[in-house]
Amino acid sequence: MDEQRRRHYLEAMGIVQWRRRDTGRVSEVTEQAPDPAAVSPSPVEGDDVSRLDWEALEARVRGCTACELHRTRTQVVFGVGNRNADWMIVGEAPGAEEDRRGEPFVGRAGQLLDAMLHAIGLQRQEVYIANVLKCRPPNNRDPRPEEVEQCEPYLKRQVALVAPRLILAVGRIAAQNLLKTNAPLSRLRGRVHSYGETETPLVVTYHPAYLLRSPREKRKAWEDLKLAREVAGR
Ligand code: URA
Repeated sequence: MDEQRRRHYLEAMGIVQWRRRDTGRVSEVTEQAPDPAAVSPSPVEGDDVSRLDWEALEARVRGCTACELHRTRTQVVFGVGNRNADWMIVGEAPGAEEDRRGEPFVGRAGQLLDAMLHAIGLQRQEVYIANVLKCRPPNNRDPRPEEVEQCEPYLKRQVALVAPRLILAVGRIAAQNLLKTNAPLSRLRGRVHSYGETETPLVVTYHPAYLLRSPREKRKAWEDLKLAREVAGR
């Protein structure tokens, strides 16, 4: 990526680069943003899903009626990207734009996610992106435990098939559900967790929608991304 574009994406992350005239070394400073004001359901059989290949898994998810969300969705948002990716990004659930277009993270939050990825030298197509829920909760309400439970085998299988070197959980809902904890996001970020039986390294950061509302937190998100990059490169 050329330097000008990289700067553009870093700026979207609130990162300003300074080059020292004497040494030519680059250091990063985070801009302090101005004060922010921000059919009947049929259960999913986990054992069964854990043996599906990509094609069968996608078909299963697209036809899923395991929870009430299938009644209100426009379409299923399965996941997108490189199925052999080193990085897997996991968000919460599709929003209105994702529900309309059938792809995760394509709204405003998605644009910031793309910029976050670019800032650490990754293109959207290089990573695999999925959500905890594959269908949009009405009015963007939080996912309900029974919805997460029904959808969990799908995400688990996606992680197993991608076999990433790193999972980046974006936002509290993704982090808490992947790590099976109620701990607040502030206690989950800043360290490396382990996901599932494969013990895949997992790093937690803020949800880009939250960063749009609270741009001062971009500094911490940038620290999380650098931690993730270090872990993925190990
Ligand atoms: N927020 C999410 O968590 N996922 C999406 O796909 C879009 C917005």
